[in-house]
Amino acid sequence: MPPERDTEREKRAAAEASALLVEDGMTVGLGTGSTVAFLLAPLAARGLSIRCVATSPATERAARELGLRVESFDDLDRLDIAIDGADQVAADGWLVKGGGGAHVREKIVAAAADRFVVIVDSGKPVAKLSPPVSLELSSFGLPSTLRALADVELRDAPPSPDGGVIADYLAPFTAPEALAARLAAAPGVVGHGLFPPEMVGEVLVGRGSEAQALELTG
Ligand code: A5P
Repeated sequence: MPPERDTEREKRAAAEASALLVEDGMTVGLGTGSTVAFLLAPLAARGLSIRCVATSPATERAARELGLRVESFDDLDRLDIAIDGADQVAADGWLVKGGGGAHVREKIVAAAADRFVVIVDSGKPVAKLSPPVSLELSSFGLPSTLRALADVELRDAPPSPDGGVIADYLAPFTAPEALAARLAAAPGVVGHGLFPPEMVGEVLVGRGSEAQALELTG
């Protein structure tokens, strides 16, 4: 039997490698989730003069506790770098994100960054993306949005910090681009967890205690 994969060690390896990409004076987007949790301490330990924006109250709290300067995203209109985890990474660079329900803020932050770095353990790269795809829905008219989309299940999760209802799209799909376009065009969908390759600068994968850059085919 192959040795059991140490997911936590892999997350830590990817996160620590990404912390080294941040330079003094940068504006930095901080993602959400258990992999990003491993980023915050090594980043704080570098003692850089940086201004951060957090994608969730949980990340904001944890970053502040470590002494990182976290600002409102009302005060910055672009970022030098954003670092975040993902639930699935396809070889062509499409991502599924939002396992923690923070995908709308995460996408806004990733899009605002000159460089978006994705950090994952070796279980996240997949041959093909599959459901669930996270959704944030407007609470206004929710039943009609659910009826129009079909194959959506509300998640047993608190609303997003922006008041959106967190849900999952469950139908199988083959073309992420087509699904992303359909979800983006649906009234009532605030945002979805499919991130296009154009948004992704690089993917660092933890393997054992090393971090390796994933070669993207897209
Ligand atoms: C949060 O909403 C998500 O997009 C996370 O970034 C994603 O689910 C990865 O989370 P983990 O790092 O906990 O696996």
